[in-house]
Amino acid sequence: ERLSLWGGRFATGPDQALAALSKSTHFDWRLAPQDIAGSRAHARVLYAAGLLSDDELAGMLAGLDRLEADVRSGAFVPAADDEDVHTALERGLIERAGAELGGRLRAGRSRNDQVATLFRMYLREHARVVGGLVLDVVEALVAQARTHLGVAMPGRTHLQHAQPVLLSHHLLAHAWALLRDVDRLRDWDARADASPYGSGALAGSSLGLDPEVVAAELGFTRAVENSIDGTAARDFAAEFSFVCAMTAVDISRIAEEVVLWATKEFSFITLDDAYSTGSSIMPQKKNPDVAELARGKAGRLVGDLAGLLTTLKALPLAYNRDLQEDKEPVFDAIDTLEILLPAFSGMVATLKVNTERLQELAPQGFALATDIAEWLVRQGVPFRSAHEVAGACVRECESRGIELWDLSDDDFARIDPNLTPAVRAVLSVEGSLASRDAVGGTAPVRVAEQLVAAEDRLAMA
Ligand code: ARG
Repeated sequence: ERLSLWGGRFATGPDQALAALSKSTHFDWRLAPQDIAGSRAHARVLYAAGLLSDDELAGMLAGLDRLEADVRSGAFVPAADDEDVHTALERGLIERAGAELGGRLRAGRSRNDQVATLFRMYLREHARVVGGLVLDVVEALVAQARTHLGVAMPGRTHLQHAQPVLLSHHLLAHAWALLRDVDRLRDWDARADASPYGSGALAGSSLGLDPEVVAAELGFTRAVENSIDGTAARDFAAEFSFVCAMTAVDISRIAEEVVLWATKEFSFITLDDAYSTGSSIMPQKKNPDVAELARGKAGRLVGDLAGLLTTLKALPLAYNRDLQEDKEPVFDAIDTLEILLPAFSGMVATLKVNTERLQELAPQGFALATDIAEWLVRQGVPFRSAHEVAGACVRECESRGIELWDLSDDDFARIDPNLTPAVRAVLSVEGSLASRDAVGGTAPVRVAEQLVAAEDRLAMA
């Protein structure tokens, strides 16, 4: 006989087509450990409310222990006609503790409050895993920044040479973005830290069960304030999905640079063989597939978020079956990050930097023109004219095919009388870098402090 959770008022079982549509065990089975933990906590509040005897509680907990062991070993798996993880596990408990006892556990709870709670538990657990993996990427970036402290590179805006910066400054820019993603996971956790268990289908329970006790046992500091909100809200899932998407987008920005930097034209970095792939036809190829997959998977995570938000849009209160669509996108985001991030941190940690090439290119493309303008400002020239004068220097150099530092004292004087030979002091990468010494600037003293701050953040994490 088929074990359904809701057969009573129906004359026939569900059509095969409906059963196939309705079924979710192929993706919600991963919530089995959380479901069993929830059942244990629920059994205890049923007992506290006088709805189970000592023997019944003991029998139920023993049945749940056996069920948990069988789930873990793989001896118990969902059957073809189990609708979802909750249905399958109730069948499993009944098979182990008997129909009479197993049938008592469902009092005062609904799959609606169950699934909302279990989903939060699962996400809170994986937020810690994902956060740790993001910190591994940060650690790899910070280690590269430490190794290459002092190396200059061309800083870019619009992908054009802009001003020289330290490579460490550039790498740490990516590190700070990822550290904010880790902060977001922590902030999110504080909001997700409320248990809907006890909300029932939507209106709460009449059986005197204490939601706060269940919440505490399941690792939450509080129960939700409103049972309708508890069963209907999925902003916790959407927000988590946003943080995953944001993290993937931040990773994709590093990835894009890795792809560019590894080209012959840039030749800024060489990827380790262990994090590169070859071509099946071109024997010489060494491809940056880790970075490309990171770039590609960012699109997938953005899609997961967009899909989930679209499912939630305009859903009336309280629970609607649409909400069963909430899990796959978020699970996909987690699975994707958990497989991507270890490869990505390995790639960053092992890449080799061509420091000579970076240093050589740092001042090129007239990247020191701003330094001329700012030197003039320090001599009392208004920035508007200083910008014009520095621009004239660039025009002169461009027409003659030379660099700014190739201009003679006479050339400078002819372009503008304010350009005395002293301007040469700022026409070096070292001078340019050292002059940008306010907080957050690329001066070596500031970057050294910044590096320590990032290292301290990692040590605290
Ligand atoms: N499997 C459902 C979900 O993931 C929970 C079941 C609620 N079903 C119901 N008919 N109320 O959302």
